Amino acid sequence: MAARDAMTPDLGSVLTLTASLTLTEKAGLLSGADVWQTRAVPRLGIRSLWMADGPHGLRKQRGDADHLGIGESEPATCFPTAATLACGWDLELAEQIGAALGREAAASGVDVLLGPGVNLVRDPRGGRSFEYFSEDPELAGRLGAAYVRGVQAQGVAATPKHFAVNSQETRRLTSDSVVDEQTLRELYLTAFEIVVREAAPWALMTAYNRVNGVYAHEHRDLLTRILREEWGFDGAVVSDWGGTDDPVASVRAGGTVQMPSPGWESVRRIVEAVQRGELSEADLDARVTEVLRLIDRTSNRGAAPIVDLDAHHQLARHAAATCAVLLRNEGGILPLSPDARVALVGAYAETPRYQGAGSSIVTPTRLTSLRSAAEGVTAFAPGYRIDGTTDAALLAAVTDAAASADVVVVALAVPAAHESEGIDRPHLRLPDGQLAALRAAAATGTPVVAVLAGGGPVETPWRHEVAALVHGHLGGQAGGEAIWDVLTGRVHPTGRLAVTMPAGELSPGFPATGRVARYDERLGVGYRSGRAAAFPFGFGLGYTSFELSDLEVTPDGAAVTVRNVGAAAGTEVVQLYIAREGRATPELKGFARVRVEPGAAERVELPFTARTFRRFERGAWRSLGGEWEVRVGRHSADLPLRAVLAIDGEDTPGGDTVTRAASEEGWRPPFDRNTPLDQLVHSPSPLVRLLVRAVLRRKARADLATEPDLDIQFIASAPLRTIHTMTAATSEVTNAVVRIANGAGLPAWGALLVALARGPLLERRTRRAFGAAR
Ligand code: BGC
Repeated sequence: MAARDAMTPDLGSVLTLTASLTLTEKAGLLSGADVWQTRAVPRLGIRSLWMADGPHGLRKQRGDADHLGIGESEPATCFPTAATLACGWDLELAEQIGAALGREAAASGVDVLLGPGVNLVRDPRGGRSFEYFSEDPELAGRLGAAYVRGVQAQGVAATPKHFAVNSQETRRLTSDSVVDEQTLRELYLTAFEIVVREAAPWALMTAYNRVNGVYAHEHRDLLTRILREEWGFDGAVVSDWGGTDDPVASVRAGGTVQMPSPGWESVRRIVEAVQRGELSEADLDARVTEVLRLIDRTSNRGAAPIVDLDAHHQLARHAAATCAVLLRNEGGILPLSPDARVALVGAYAETPRYQGAGSSIVTPTRLTSLRSAAEGVTAFAPGYRIDGTTDAALLAAVTDAAASADVVVVALAVPAAHESEGIDRPHLRLPDGQLAALRAAAATGTPVVAVLAGGGPVETPWRHEVAALVHGHLGGQAGGEAIWDVLTGRVHPTGRLAVTMPAGELSPGFPATGRVARYDERLGVGYRSGRAAAFPFGFGLGYTSFELSDLEVTPDGAAVTVRNVGAAAGTEVVQLYIAREGRATPELKGFARVRVEPGAAERVELPFTARTFRRFERGAWRSLGGEWEVRVGRHSADLPLRAVLAIDGEDTPGGDTVTRAASEEGWRPPFDRNTPLDQLVHSPSPLVRLLVRAVLRRKARADLATEPDLDIQFIASAPLRTIHTMTAATSEVTNAVVRIANGAGLPAWGALLVALARGPLLERRTRRAFGAAR
């Protein structure tokens, strides 16, 4: 990035610069030069922007670039993932982690950090939930905003993603999220709205999916009417990698940059659309200005900072420990007594699960395991294999280890193959082998402390068989030390669940496997479903206890007294919910962390916001008049303090649900450019069927492996358009492939050959017109 300062426009000159660009140069700024960089225009001193994942650690790639975390990346601190951090309900901590990520990005010359993920966890089986904060928009939005503030204070752009309604990985590049307007606004958009209004991110990434029939990157309602005009976003909207279909429609709708490089075809199409009068130059200029402003904003950070990697490791450790959620602690077995003889069981204690798979994968600067951190344990037994199986010898060793100890700590984890970008979790059960090891330990009569790793909930029908249960989620590179800190009491766990741990029953029909994902549960997501939970949203214990009292409610907010009635200092997370007739459950509207010394009390304020009493009804936000119940407590199922507040509102509830029609037809011929590759097994062409079956066989083999194969997952469900949106091939190539897949014979093959030959000539011509060096 040596050229940073020399090639940097200042904001004042952004408009002049836009006017100095040729039409081809303007169009050229709106798509990537390669997998991670935008194009530069050296003659005007416009540098390229460097973008990199990701949400919980920098992934600046070395060598061959890919966007799925397959290639090596430079070592960086692997912080706990968003699902873990969210359990802190700690805005200061989220900002600190954001700042640390921003520092590492700035030190590596990265301008745009591709995070945080603020999609809602619609269903705990979402395979990418580990990258998202919560099932609740207020919590996700506030944490996302804090994180963005931290990143951007370092002069690096944050990129909240994936806007919007990207709740499943299955068919993510083609799926249509069909959701009524009230649910869209109150749940899925609110998290983004909070981030945009409170933290003004300089960039934002669109989702792969369609929203009510329109691809997110081409969605004018989302990108212009709501994001820019209503919320005041003035940054750049970046597509997800391969998430654009029509580059002209994207520019018109408000999509700024298409990533990764689609070659020069999008440039040609934008230029031609302007020349034909199909795209206004004003729309084009607006997008160009957004790119230039992003360059400007990321150009003022001065010399690259020196990163203190030890300090970042310690921050990661502190975050993982304080965000750990203590779900059960019978007889106060935790913290472990210093004299206790402790046995350790579980292959995951040695081979930690500490992050998820996909584009967010970080190469950690170091890695600790529970086993390496756990000093003085009397015995270790793996108990099961990482593939989820066990055998008599492994179980016998568990019995021996547990029988001679005072406490046995059993490490359990969601298998890596279940939790990845690109796939959803088949179920929430832990593998039989892990449970057999847990039960073998419990059968000895020695109290069991179960320690869980994974980016989301698991079923816990075995929870009554253990004395204690700690959910550490995915703790990042220092997760092993952090859990030991918690078990020994060096750090008190203060985590509260940001996603409900279900008791069994889940929504039917997740994930949708066809073209359409219908959000029929509407607002009934997570705790709002009213379903029984094993551990409710907001729940978490500590090493002391609290009493809440003296609720006082004014039109500006609520206040309560938090008294520490235990023997140790500790932190409570006080939660404010609002209830009103017509809604199944109270809804979270505020929270505060408070540290209280033993025997002491603190008064805690929970201010109302512009969102507290609003509802989206009949096409608009309305502050509804009437009586609202204000409830305060420790978690969504324990809200003992209540007061009724009369609000002078403008209207009364009515409710509407506008759901645009969506086609649910399957993918049968005739196929088009948006048909996923795996659906071509229905092609009339025997050759196409043969090739696709070969891909599917490879995928079936990969599905059985213990680590996900993201390459094949991506390829199998990629729509045909990715041939030209993610490579330098032209759309003529895609069109010819579509014809072949539809059974057209020799003429289509001829067209393919012509397209393959013509493509490089067209590319060279556009590249020259842009003035690029190669
Ligand atoms: C992911 C994004 C990521 C991008 C670049 C995509 O597959 O969905 O979250 O930022 O790749 O790696």
